[in-house]
Amino acid sequence: MNVRELFGNISGTYDLLNRVLSFGTDKRWRKKGVSLLPHGKNLNILDLASGTLDLALQYAKEGAGEVWCLDFALPMLLTGKMKVSPLLDERLHLICSDGLKIPFPDHFFDAAMCAWGMRNLPDHKAALCELQRVLKPGGSLMIIDFFKPNRTFSKIFSKTYGRYVMPTLGGWISRDKAAYNYLHRSIENFLSRQQFEDLLERNGFDVIEAKDLTGGISSLLLANAHD
Ligand SMILES: C[S@@+](CC[C@H](N)C(=O)[O-])C[C@H]1O[C@@H](n2cnc3c(N)ncnc32)[C@H](O)[C@@H]1O
Repeated sequence: MNVRELFGNISGTYDLLNRVLSFGTDKRWRKKGVSLLPHGKNLNILDLASGTLDLALQYAKEGAGEVWCLDFALPMLLTGKMKVSPLLDERLHLICSDGLKIPFPDHFFDAAMCAWGMRNLPDHKAALCELQRVLKPGGSLMIIDFFKPNRTFSKIFSKTYGRYVMPTLGGWISRDKAAYNYLHRSIENFLSRQQFEDLLERNGFDVIEAKDLTGGISSLLLANAHD
């Protein structure tokens, strides 16, 4: 499965399907995540796997700071770019690049965020090492993702809604059922939240906050980088 092509192909319907499949809760989840990050005029914030920029836009709307939106699927970034108002345009910078090779010097970013992107990266340990490299010591990392379900509600949700409803509805609207089958598989094959917390702790981060959102369908992690 070529993940870059997959997201490129569904870029036109990605936002609509996010709203429909999550009943609009994805917006609330992003807002919660962004509220945990520092805001300030001279801060540099990385949005890793930025997609159509919804997380970056949420951050930029809430306060000052430069947001560097990195994704390897150009159509996703360009779809997002159409949503950026002239007021925010000069604070959002698009970078089309692989998330495992972030084209920035060491300790450049004050904070980093990644919403539903980590699961798609082929090597999570390498991704965390790269994030730790580009973050300043003490810099925050906020991650939201669909971790492998380990609560009764999220397990049932994944085996019913995730397995049958999402691919059917997603395939119907995007005309790409394979992409939404991949979504379910990628969740089942990902680490649980607890396993990901352990990975963070072993790779240069202190976990500050970890919480499940909406019965564990998504989870949010906040960690600080250390040397
Ligand atoms: C589910 S979308 C999330 C988009 C966005 N963060 C959001 O909140 O909606 C996952 C994104 O990760 C990107 N992605 C996956 N693997 C990547 C990689 N190795 N490097 C850069 N971007 C990647 C995809 O292109 C896609 O846009």
